[in-house]
Amino acid sequence: MQFYVDSANLSDIRHAASLGFLSGVTTNPSLLAKEDPSLDVKQIIKEIHASVGGHCSVEVNSTDTDGMLREADEILKWFPEATIKIPMIPAGLSAVRRLAQQEIPTNVTLIFTANQALAAHNAGATYVSVFVGRLDDISTEGIQAIRDTAEIWDLHSLDSQIIAASLRHPLHVLECARAGAHIATVPYKVLMQTLNHPLTTSGVQAFVDDYKKMMAAKS
Ligand code: G3P
Repeated sequence: MQFYVDSANLSDIRHAASLGFLSGVTTNPSLLAKEDPSLDVKQIIKEIHASVGGHCSVEVNSTDTDGMLREADEILKWFPEATIKIPMIPAGLSAVRRLAQQEIPTNVTLIFTANQALAAHNAGATYVSVFVGRLDDISTEGIQAIRDTAEIWDLHSLDSQIIAASLRHPLHVLECARAGAHIATVPYKVLMQTLNHPLTTSGVQAFVDDYKKMMAAKS
């Protein structure tokens, strides 16, 4: 399972990308809205893309097919490798089909069921983003949507990629990998929590201290 960072914060994205294990970045309008409003969205997106170098999903804001396609054209002028992130609504599926016909990669977002994921796949989506945390928020087991989707993808050998999204803690990441998600898009804080283990921290400290003691004894 690959890791993407789910963020619009440039310093977090740059740090995560510098660690060498990241394959991409996803953003959304709510993440962008948390950043400095005086910043130019086009500029931030271009810098985000340059920082990671891999997959970069950029979301449209329109809710009608023509508006989404106009926005996709604009985003592709910013950088032609962009993956266009489209909401899982009927007008979005039409936009996905039109973009797929032009071989433009799409990431269908706000998917909460395997049926929605299948519809997005059949419209021609390159990626299907299945949300976990927001289902947990309404007392529905979010990970089950990933399990269902991965089982169907496996059964029918579907070639679009399942992105586990709306992840809130390291156990979500673990469960998504076990369930068969191809990619987890993870907030920066959770990404860092996922790397940490107290025994790793104390073990490194013990090795450093013992090495220093050994060198001091030799001098
Ligand atoms: O990638 C979608 C993700 O950003 C949504 O996360 O925490 O707002 O449900 P959240």
